[in-house]
Amino acid sequence: MRQFIILLSIIGVISSCHYDKAEVDMPNIPKDTLKISYSPSSSTIIVGTAGSSVSPIIKNTVVGIVTFKISVPTTGFSLDNNGVISWANSVPKGTYNLGIVATNTKGMVDSTRYTLYVNASGVATAPSSFVYSPASSTVNQGTAGSSLAPSINTGGAAITYSLTTAITGITISATSGVISWANTMSPGTYSITVKATNSVGSISTTYSLTIVYLVRFSVDILPIISNQCATCHHGSHTTWTQWSTINNESAAIYSRLKPTGNMPQGSSLSPVPTTQVSSGLFRDLFQLWITQGKLNN
Ligand code: HEC
Repeated sequence: MRQFIILLSIIGVISSCHYDKAEVDMPNIPKDTLKISYSPSSSTIIVGTAGSSVSPIIKNTVVGIVTFKISVPTTGFSLDNNGVISWANSVPKGTYNLGIVATNTKGMVDSTRYTLYVNASGVATAPSSFVYSPASSTVNQGTAGSSLAPSINTGGAAITYSLTTAITGITISATSGVISWANTMSPGTYSITVKATNSVGSISTTYSLTIVYLVRFSVDILPIISNQCATCHHGSHTTWTQWSTINNESAAIYSRLKPTGNMPQGSSLSPVPTTQVSSGLFRDLFQLWITQGKLNN
């Protein structure tokens, strides 16, 4: 028994040594990953309708491009460089389970399935593949505008578009799905959810609208430059108390503004509201004024 215990403790010492050694010699190196999926991972169409899938969601930790292929090439189906599957209007009625294979530059492979249901004509299905492209707009405050019409697989029945949540200033065409916004909208980013409904079902997608603050020269720019710069920069040198000189020398002014530049010499610039520029820097507000065409407003 005593020998047995000694033996056990020897094994214990040996195995713990071994364990310590293993921990030191084999640091935990994160493994590379490659994952492909589609969301949604299917489409239902009426026979005779060409169309395409959404772009796949790729999780790839290896540098370089990911390439795609259909595991069993199928007549009427093709794949682009981004993994978007397209089908021709000649694909016969039936169910198509496509295996899509992604390969990265390290030779790692992952695969997933995409299913296309091709129904006989006359059988309506719920709408699918509903996207706006582009799915966002960034515009200056004070400008009305509208989105492009969305693309959708109607499921073979008439579609009605609606906003799931009303947003003041935003309207939608019930028939085309074009989203419009009024020139009265406040700066900010609006997430707009649109629902498309037919006689069988519905599907939703989102559109993002960013309204950029419109810089006002008389209120946001002129008082700062006249009070904090023109005090030193005056006389024959320059006069920054009016739009024309600030407009002419805007590039030099911008390049010298703190925090990147060293002006105003001996003092600092107060922060501006983050509802105007997210950084809160006068320098960025001045840049925005330049981008917006140096309006004398
Ligand atoms: C306290 C006095 C003072 C104030 C206030 C001041 N500056 Fe200056 N500025 C100077 C001096 C002195 C020079 C020359 C030395 C140098 O280039 O740093 C200069 C040079 C410049 C130059 C390069 C030369 C030129 O005239 O084109 C620019 C541009 C400039 N300042 C912009 C500004 C701006 C914009 C402000 C306000 C945000 C400002 N300055 C505020 C004193 C001042």
